Amino acid sequence: MYTWRDLPAAQQPEYPDQEALRRVIAELETFPPLVFAGECDNLRARMAAVAKGEAFLLQGGDCAETFDAVGAEQIRAKLKTLLQMGAVLTYAASVPVVKVGRIAGQYSKPRSKPTETRDGVTLPVYRGDSVNGFEFTEAARTPDPERLKRMYHASASTLNLVRAFTTGGYADLRQVHAWNQDFVKSSPSGQRYEQLAREIDNALNFMHACGADPEEFKTVEFYASHEALLLDYETALTRVDSRTGQLYDVSAHMVWIGERTRQLDHAHIEFASRIRNPIGIKLGPTTTAEEALQYIERLDPEREPGRLTFIVRMGADKIRDRLPELVEKVTASGATVAWVTDPMHGNTFEAASGHKTRRFDDVLDEVKGFFEVHKALGTHPGGIHVELTGDDVTECVGGGDEIFVDDLHQRYETACDPRLNRSQSLDLAFLVAEMYRDQ
Ligand code: PEP
Ligand code: CO
Repeated sequence: MYTWRDLPAAQQPEYPDQEALRRVIAELETFPPLVFAGECDNLRARMAAVAKGEAFLLQGGDCAETFDAVGAEQIRAKLKTLLQMGAVLTYAASVPVVKVGRIAGQYSKPRSKPTETRDGVTLPVYRGDSVNGFEFTEAARTPDPERLKRMYHASASTLNLVRAFTTGGYADLRQVHAWNQDFVKSSPSGQRYEQLAREIDNALNFMHACGADPEEFKTVEFYASHEALLLDYETALTRVDSRTGQLYDVSAHMVWIGERTRQLDHAHIEFASRIRNPIGIKLGPTTTAEEALQYIERLDPEREPGRLTFIVRMGADKIRDRLPELVEKVTASGATVAWVTDPMHGNTFEAASGHKTRRFDDVLDEVKGFFEVHKALGTHPGGIHVELTGDDVTECVGGGDEIFVDDLHQRYETACDPRLNRSQSLDLAFLVAEMYRDQ
């Protein structure tokens, strides 16, 4: 059944103590599911609407979640940012928005090099809190399987709070102003949002006066996703669904396979092909149309809308050249995949200060290119996948409340890639809503 186990898998940690790893896996196998198979099916149905052009995906969160950041404030801030972006997109683009966090499980990172050298000392690279510690010491950097259990518990606490926030009244649309309260005066995007929130309020009051008070306004459907990178962990949380007898990865509603682990003959793609969750595949600039078609054969042989999402991350300078052929050939194959833009990972560079950063304008330009390609081909730009945080960090440059290269050091907190802060995230939502309207 676990057909991926004997295949090569890239980017897996080398645990010095294999016996300890086996003990942890056996324990993880006894832990309850974090999500239900039925919820994964619901998200697949939502993603089918995205694939068919009837809805838009908003997927966002940290590049790398950290155990230290599993706190009410930080989780709420992220959620608030996503809810605000969702409100902007829904209202300004008049499209149903499927909301999916990179949250409650995004603890593992693929890296370009296995080691890191500082001042002549070489240690294993940081691979995310699920594997080792960020601190540059031998003790911290040695992969520790106990961290897989911490990943599970951190995911469970996060998801618990997310579920409480999204169904317990906080996400009620009548709170649309409250999500912005601490933000309004300080930022141009906050002020723009406040205007939109007033319009939403007026519409709600009007509906209420007409006697309509729909249940849909009181809670938000929110899903969790992460990169399925650590196959030991994902396999331990892959279970047979008692209703259907099929396998589901119950660590998240949706998982994706990253750019560095999408080899067609390796374990990650085989794993993804065996589980029923909706699946994302990151497609970088070297992806060929033939590869895209093979992903469809492997992962979506039934041509089931919602099953497969291509998350395209080409870079602003390449998207307009590379994407059209992929979209054309995939469309011609008869598959209905969801096309989503990740405008972050192809636009990273190192600033003179040594900070890894991204320009807001490059991010925006890649999204624009993505929309242009779909407009020209008559296909649907299905959504955005972004790295963001609810905190006012200074990790990406630009945006309406402009952050300059010289500001980066002020609040650079990411454990991996630079994230959009709250203001930049809202700016992006407004701009994407305009693009969506104009397409
Ligand atoms: C990521 O999403 O954080 C990531 C590593 O992306 P990619 O696999 O596209 O490089
Ligand atoms: Co990243």
